[in-house]
Amino acid sequence: MEILKVENLIKTYGENDNITKALDNITFSAQDGEFIAIIGASGSGKSTLLHILGGIDKPSSGKIIVNGQDISNLSDRELAVYRRRTASLVFQFYNLIPILNVKENITLPIRLDNKKVDDRKLEELVKILGLTDKQNKLPNQLSGGEQQRVAIGRALMCETKILLADEPTGNLDSKNSIEIVKLIKEYNEKYNQTIILVTHDIEVAKQAGRIITLQDGKIVRDEVQ
Ligand SMILES: Nc1ncnc2c1ncn2[C@@H]1O[C@H](COP(=O)(O)OP(=O)(O)OP(=O)(O)O)[C@@H](O)[C@H]1O
Ligand SMILES: [Mg+2]
Repeated sequence: MEILKVENLIKTYGENDNITKALDNITFSAQDGEFIAIIGASGSGKSTLLHILGGIDKPSSGKIIVNGQDISNLSDRELAVYRRRTASLVFQFYNLIPILNVKENITLPIRLDNKKVDDRKLEELVKILGLTDKQNKLPNQLSGGEQQRVAIGRALMCETKILLADEPTGNLDSKNSIEIVKLIKEYNEKYNQTIILVTHDIEVAKQAGRIITLQDGKIVRDEVQ
């Protein structure tokens, strides 16, 4: 089943002489359960694409159909629901809530959605992420890599149809990066979650089934491995 369809997506920033075309006519689709890595030079549009797919930025033009729903014209309220239920985003810079501890950050989207937290799943996830000893700590008491793992846990806990991750291993060494990506992959297989992961690390990208390369806001390569 096709979970995502992007058609002629354009995103520009600024106006007139000062215009930047961050995304320049992007078209691609993804099947349910696919694991796609997006690579490309700094400034090629990777984060912009992910933010639009994640419903935190709006396209200038083009269509984005996710799970049968066109998200390009949703209201802010509808987008908030979309982010909790359909597509979760792990940011390049974690975006953890500073006054909430590890467990509270991981379970926040579930609690915001008035759903019951599955304590066994939470415990298992915290353990796999290597955060058992830190589960009651606040973000500012954690290292960059630990904060990054909390952000990944928060996205995995939700079991949304799509997981969007922007450099989720950018702060980890290569051994830990591969481990975290394997964990994400495990979830991808177990829950048939579709994953779109931005990375600079080619070893991380190789874990994916498909690699899309962006250059100057355009798809210049799209390869199934
Ligand atoms: N809010 C903004 N206002 C103006 N220009 C922006 C804005 N956000 C991004 N851009 C521009 O859009 C282009 C794409 O940026 P984007 O952040 O998507 O790149 P990226 O591929 O994620 O880069 P990196 O690997 O450095 O994270 C860049 O030229 C950038 O300067
Ligand atoms: Mg980026």
